[in-house]
Amino acid sequence: MAADYPKHEHDVLVIGAGGAGLRAAIEASGEGASVGLVCKSMLGKAHTVMAEGGIAAALGNVDDRDNWKVHFSDTMRGGQYINNWRMAELHAKEAPERVRELESWGALFDRTKGGRILQRNFGGHRYPRLAHVGDRTGLEMIRTLQDHGIHQGIDVHMEFTVVCLLKDGDRVSGALAYDRERGRFRVFHANAVVLATGGIGRAYRITSNSWEYTGDGHALAYRAGAELIDMEFIQFHPTGMVWPPSVRGILVTEGVRGEGGVLLNKEGKRFMFDDIPDNYKSQTADSPEEGWRYTQGDRNARRPPELLTRDHVARCILREVREGRGSPHGGVFLDIAWISEKLANGAEHIQKKLPSMYHQFMQLAKIDITKEPMEVGPTTHYVMGGIRVNADSQMSNVPGLFACGECAAGINGANRLGGNSLSDLLVLGKRAGEYAAKFAKEHGGTSIDMSQVEEAEQAALKPFSETPIEGEESNNPYDIQFALQETMQSLVGIVRQGAEMEQALEKIAQLKKRAQRVAVTGHREFNPGWHTALDLANLFTVAEAVTRSALLREESRGAQFRKDFTSKDPEWGKANIATSQGPDGQMKVERIPIPEMPAELNAIIEEMG
Ligand code: FUM
Repeated sequence: MAADYPKHEHDVLVIGAGGAGLRAAIEASGEGASVGLVCKSMLGKAHTVMAEGGIAAALGNVDDRDNWKVHFSDTMRGGQYINNWRMAELHAKEAPERVRELESWGALFDRTKGGRILQRNFGGHRYPRLAHVGDRTGLEMIRTLQDHGIHQGIDVHMEFTVVCLLKDGDRVSGALAYDRERGRFRVFHANAVVLATGGIGRAYRITSNSWEYTGDGHALAYRAGAELIDMEFIQFHPTGMVWPPSVRGILVTEGVRGEGGVLLNKEGKRFMFDDIPDNYKSQTADSPEEGWRYTQGDRNARRPPELLTRDHVARCILREVREGRGSPHGGVFLDIAWISEKLANGAEHIQKKLPSMYHQFMQLAKIDITKEPMEVGPTTHYVMGGIRVNADSQMSNVPGLFACGECAAGINGANRLGGNSLSDLLVLGKRAGEYAAKFAKEHGGTSIDMSQVEEAEQAALKPFSETPIEGEESNNPYDIQFALQETMQSLVGIVRQGAEMEQALEKIAQLKKRAQRVAVTGHREFNPGWHTALDLANLFTVAEAVTRSALLREESRGAQFRKDFTSKDPEWGKANIATSQGPDGQMKVERIPIPEMPAELNAIIEEMG
């Protein structure tokens, strides 16, 4: 009986323990709320660590021309002006304070010669803006937040997967989860819930995301009645590893290009020069040396074309590969070794600036990046789309349900600038925690409806009573997941077109049907097959939302490039796409207008050109 399952009581329940979840939990706890923090895997294992190259904040330590206004305007330009401008404003204004706070909690950043936090260049950021710790910034952030958080009396529930949010009328009242080790269910009762579950990378075959990122928060919110927005925008990071096959997709930080790495095709040509947008032509460095000086903070040098925005660089790489100029394993070359030849102590310099990359390639591919180029190709890295929330409070349209970090949307619009996610999760994670605690305090108690618990539990256990089928119609969870990933990778990838996306929708519908009879063997104690079966519903929700939204947006903008609509349509520049569940249970996607930007923010964008 579900009623016998253990129950945890918290004022605020935070689901997801990456940077955003930890920051929200710290803030809610600081507000006096009792906080439960649920992680799908072990505390500290989070995609946050994949933001390696730095955290974007206009500290102005390396170039004093930087300030929040420039950061705001870069973020809006990167997002092609369909961002939630209020979020972009809050983010740009509050990021420096959040970075200094992190430092005061023990984060050890690299330093300038004068002892200030060092900042490096990244794509789309006008000035060197990324505060960093070599190429391990996300890891340092997680370590710091974890250390700080555990001293606040937060209850951490590790290795729990949430299967549904519970509701009391319109309000969220908690969640039902199973512990992955024993496969038993627990009820988490809370007066406010913060979703911080990260991304959806596992909907694609090639991804920098690890197994946890199956769109759980997106799907939980959607099923609880929240809206998703901007789901068509998936960020394909231009540089993931391509070889050997077992490591395909693992991130190669943009920090490599931020430190002077250049992209070459198999003919040794810097192909990024073949497609520089007109307005950037005069600003582009035409020699590696000048580009390198730029990356090292020389104000008079021009920027290398490798630091154009990620969507652009990823498409250029794809073009080289498709036109037969790629590397032996289907990527292109990323070369930072040239610095070893040009600079005294060049090899040492590379190892100091990019220690993780050095070890990653040495250990996984037997490549010494100080001597040889790396082979790289695009990898699914980040979803700009997510739960629609209020910019100031981070609350969704479901009372008491908050979201922050990658599973929430708005700040990035059509494309995120590298480094903005780490500052986003600090700024908006803090706000989510603060407002969730206030909501829990001000809105009185909720109660748990045990019939919801029982229904969810029965659905979760159903795969044990199904009979395995082999062959074409296999109902093995891994076969279904693989087929879905293949569909998204080949039909809703970097370059899209309507007919292919229609095909993807048909395939998703067929796979969903197969998944209704998904079967698992064995028992409930640590059973990864069962866990995968339960992840499928979330993956279907996000895959369908991405495809339907991408189909509706008949234009190319930011991370969405359509072969059948190659230009930007000014009308689409005024709208986001919202996804919600209709009363018939069917997915609904609709165009929603973007509220007009206040004159003072508009003036900033115009001033910045
Ligand atoms: O390339 C990187 O280091 C990734 C950073 C990010 O996605 O923000």
